[in-house]
Amino acid sequence: MCGIVGYVGPRDCSDVLVSALEKLEYRGYDSAGIAVFEDNEIKTVKTKGKLENLKEKISTEGKPDGHVGIGHTRWATHGEPSDVNSHPHSGARVTIVHNGIIENYLELKEFLVSQGRTFLSDTDTEVVAQLLDYKYNGDPLETIDSVLAEVKGSFALGIMFKDFPDRIFAVRRESPLIVGVGDGESFIASDVPAILQYTRDYYLLEHDEIATLAADSVTFVDEHLQPIEKELKTADWDMEAAEKGGYAHYMIKEIHEQPTAIKTTIIPRIRDGLPCLEECGITLDKLKDFKNITIVACGTAMHAGMVGKYVIEDLARVPVNVDIASEYRYRNPIINKGDLVIIISQSGETADSREAMRLAKSRGAQTLAIVNAKGSSIAREADMLIYTLAGPEIAVASTKAYITQLSVMYLFAFELALAKETISVAECKRLVAALLKMPDAVEYVIDNCEEKCKYIATKLIAADSLLYIGRELDYALSMEGSLKLKEVSYIHSESYAAGELKHGTISLIDKDMPVIAVATQTDIIPKTISNIVEVKSRGAKVILVCTDTCARALDEGVADYVIEVPHCEELLMPISAVVPLQILAYYTAVNKGNDPDKPRNLAKSVTVE
Ligand code: AGP
Repeated sequence: MCGIVGYVGPRDCSDVLVSALEKLEYRGYDSAGIAVFEDNEIKTVKTKGKLENLKEKISTEGKPDGHVGIGHTRWATHGEPSDVNSHPHSGARVTIVHNGIIENYLELKEFLVSQGRTFLSDTDTEVVAQLLDYKYNGDPLETIDSVLAEVKGSFALGIMFKDFPDRIFAVRRESPLIVGVGDGESFIASDVPAILQYTRDYYLLEHDEIATLAADSVTFVDEHLQPIEKELKTADWDMEAAEKGGYAHYMIKEIHEQPTAIKTTIIPRIRDGLPCLEECGITLDKLKDFKNITIVACGTAMHAGMVGKYVIEDLARVPVNVDIASEYRYRNPIINKGDLVIIISQSGETADSREAMRLAKSRGAQTLAIVNAKGSSIAREADMLIYTLAGPEIAVASTKAYITQLSVMYLFAFELALAKETISVAECKRLVAALLKMPDAVEYVIDNCEEKCKYIATKLIAADSLLYIGRELDYALSMEGSLKLKEVSYIHSESYAAGELKHGTISLIDKDMPVIAVATQTDIIPKTISNIVEVKSRGAKVILVCTDTCARALDEGVADYVIEVPHCEELLMPISAVVPLQILAYYTAVNKGNDPDKPRNLAKSVTVE
């Protein structure tokens, strides 16, 4: 997703912008650019490709020399990735960077063309730049306000007016934007890591608020242009947490951080051996009344929801429907007043998840958000909120956020089952104690499986396609394994409920189609094993992820490679069994020469539909 930065202060503005943009690379982008006031003129350098290309262009064209400017990494939506479509975009007196989508840009463009305006790019952003220029009356705040009244969609904008060379302006609707303040300097950014190297203090800009940034002051007005005071926040992430800390990639670093992430997430939510979610607005009394639950999310977060469905239905006997947010929001779903809708999201800014939540709220559902990014839109708008305390997740492929989403789903399911009296207090305590052991189980898997997974990954790189199979919880888990492999290795894969294979998909199996089978649930292991035998007899190479107890009972030669994970409380097995799947995906990507942190075509935070 696009990244925005801006700076006003004594430092070399071009350097600050580029280094802040580097911290936003995780969002995914295909072009980059900066605009800086140099001798009261706005000098822009922008190019298709990575920040390295931008740096090269800056060194050949000359670095814009100044102290006030804006920068951008673009993830193409309107118009292909190209130099001309890169941001910043300008009108005669205005230059802007933009994240999001202007829904009515065609209509606005037609109007501007009828007024004699011409356009250089295919972007919706240039339409906003031209509209600002068209409406400019010498007062930046009035001009921005009148443009806000005309544009529809979601956006965050960083704006420079030629007549005001000592300041920048910022505004947002839906898309995230923060305003950082340092000593005699100020910043805008799409996310906190961009400014952490300079300051920890920042404001969260709200919808349609406009910020004016000078070196020694930051002021805000609301949509009626009335001055407002805002609460200054302090980031509690340390810089080291946002850096790679000696690992080759963020993805593998974040896989290794999972034991800590689980502990950090669950320990504060356990009291006297029982789940305690009161601080998140969740009480036993409240939970008693929920009769239907829908979990809405996208991608990996949706897969965490799939595990949640199995666990909640099993323990609390409450029916759970898991829905893909982009389907749910457009499908006129059945939402009864008083239903519980759970939204799971790492970023808290995923447009489809956010809109699904708003739809559920508008129809009278109670909403519970399980979110990692503090202060994000979904976190702020939900009725109840449980933060996953995974810390900043930088790699595009989600790992530690997923494992903390699972951990929260378990705590929630235990609490719900207590409220519904489908488990006893003693059973709940037993389950909580088992959950508390999972960080060690994950640690053990990382320590003991990484080398083996690394080796097996060398066997996967030649495959064009793979199948992941499992039953029940193992099926939910294999969905995540398959997505992880696809997104970073670019090898096609599908996950199938193992028992469904013989209804068609088994026809794909031959010696060139490896199968990754997951078998952690004792009562159905024999069934999964018989599916493994079926694919093996058709030539498939089989990699089996199973418990150590299952591995001991296996007949010789059932699988080509066996990855053993320690046998824990079976309901909790997804927490430890996902780890080898993540590591396999990571090393397959690395072996193929891919950058697992920034897979092609993907963005960390999908803030457009
Ligand atoms: C995860 O590896 C993916 N990058 C993606 O599926 C992600 O989980 C999805 O886009 C949802 O994002 P969110 O958790 O920030 O809402």
